[in-house]
Amino acid sequence: MSQTEELPAIPQPAAPARFEEATHAPSGSTQWWRRSVIYQIYPRSFRDTTGNGIGDLRGITTELHHIASLGVDAIWLSPFFASPQKDAGYDVSDYRAVDPLFGTLEDFDELIAEANRLEVKILVDIVPNHCSDQHALFREALASPAGSAARDMFIFRDGLGDGGQLPPNNWQSHFGGSAWTRVPEPDGTGGQYYLHLFDSSQPDFNWDNPAVGDEFASVLRFWLDRGAGGFRVDVAHALVKASGLPDWHGRADGADTPGYPFADAPMFGQPAVHEVFRRWRAICEEYPDERVLCAEANVHPIEAMADWVRPDEMHQSFNFPFLHTDWDAAALKAIITRSLKAFDAVGAPSTWVLSNHDVPRHATRLGAPTPALRPGDGLGPEDAQPDPVLGLARARAATLFMLGLPGGAYLYQGEELGLGDHTELPHEYRQDPTYARTDGERLGRDGCRVPLPWNDSTRSLGFSDADTGWLPQPGGWESLTRQAQESDPDSTLNLYRKALALRRTHDLGLGNLNWLEDTAGGQLLGFGNSGVLVLLNLGPTPVDVPAGEVLLASSATALGVAPAGTGSLVLNPDAALWLRPRTA
Ligand code: GLC
Repeated sequence: MSQTEELPAIPQPAAPARFEEATHAPSGSTQWWRRSVIYQIYPRSFRDTTGNGIGDLRGITTELHHIASLGVDAIWLSPFFASPQKDAGYDVSDYRAVDPLFGTLEDFDELIAEANRLEVKILVDIVPNHCSDQHALFREALASPAGSAARDMFIFRDGLGDGGQLPPNNWQSHFGGSAWTRVPEPDGTGGQYYLHLFDSSQPDFNWDNPAVGDEFASVLRFWLDRGAGGFRVDVAHALVKASGLPDWHGRADGADTPGYPFADAPMFGQPAVHEVFRRWRAICEEYPDERVLCAEANVHPIEAMADWVRPDEMHQSFNFPFLHTDWDAAALKAIITRSLKAFDAVGAPSTWVLSNHDVPRHATRLGAPTPALRPGDGLGPEDAQPDPVLGLARARAATLFMLGLPGGAYLYQGEELGLGDHTELPHEYRQDPTYARTDGERLGRDGCRVPLPWNDSTRSLGFSDADTGWLPQPGGWESLTRQAQESDPDSTLNLYRKALALRRTHDLGLGNLNWLEDTAGGQLLGFGNSGVLVLLNLGPTPVDVPAGEVLLASSATALGVAPAGTGSLVLNPDAALWLRPRTA
């Protein structure tokens, strides 16, 4: 495969187009994960079949054909393991069991069977940095004395100051407050502290202890043996902590820390963490069918993140800098170019993602008055509300643009329906621990986790037989149900279907990116990939479009007719276009 594809010359109304040298140079491999589209299912909000208001594995199995028919390669399933659900399942009490809320192991096996029938892979979300305080290992640690082998599975330390009144260091929890909690000794006196980078119900494992690594190797095999296609790896940057646990003056919760989280913080990106994933890669390679690992390695800069996808480590890493880039042509171009270079340097595909269960959905973010919202800080009823029309137009355009990029793409359930957050969720429904741990100062992530609208069969829009799911849906979702969008050719659902089909036909995931130099005064982003010209207008005015065959536009109103009766087309603001350029 050519790595520096030349697009045919494109006649331009203004300055002639010129393409920069290709910045993306994939290896020419056909490995599925180099060009995959992976769809995230957040089980508790996908589809409830028991009427308890919480989605379950059977709901996923029942509706999986809808997702497979979108044209995705794999599903990433957020945690469904046994859990007290203090952090929506990212607090695992048994890594080898399905939480009864979601079903049984047999339900998981049926889901895998259906996925195999539909030819989509199922990636399991593994949480190795911490477990639940209800996990048997942590309970044993609490019941054991300081210095015991049971405590050494976790990070216990004596406190500082008189009588150990002060925590062992200054680290803060991502969810607010100290990252240390003190436990009473059996005699009732104040005892040691344990580290939790997240909620106090999520004690961090001690990855310096080989027994922890052995336990997780066994957990991986448990799910691989059951047919998992691989793993999304939670907080893959934090497993190993710097020895001596030195103070750090950045904030682990990310607030007010520019560029958070730095790769050089003592709790992130320690060299030994890479040994863990080398072992995991080797385990995956013991199995047939290319089982994959995807890192949630949320470290800056992106060149540091690329360390997680070196050839003997993981396959993919989420591109959070891309997700967090504002609606700005120069900024987007810069991060895309930088991402491709960073991942090319280690021979890995870049990935692209716009939404997930931890950030405001892009249909909300891109219509919100504050251009950049931090993760964990969704909008609430007291905030200025987003413009839903603008948000949806930009979200559709951003997605079409993203799906034209070479590499792997991630989608979050409901974005194919154009859903935004529930930005007016009444506070009494909030369950994200961030909200309670910061006394409501940070709203948390509930707004992007609202149950999906399927159809008009029940009051919860087909999500459940219950009137409401675990979180209420916002008003206006009646017109956004999957059923309502099925037969509308201009619906967001059909835009996603067409884009994914064309992406596959043109094999854009394995292509090369060549920037279009004409930026219409800085408001247009354009690139060629595999004979397709991908254009995004981020500015306030329509821009001229090169002559060619329109393959797909982000909406029915994306294109206008150029003035002066030229008969050529213009791309309207907040719109994107895929075009096959006419050869000169
Ligand atoms: C990851 C998850 C997030 C969770 C956190 C702690 O960032 O995506 O939802 O709260 O890890 O496990």
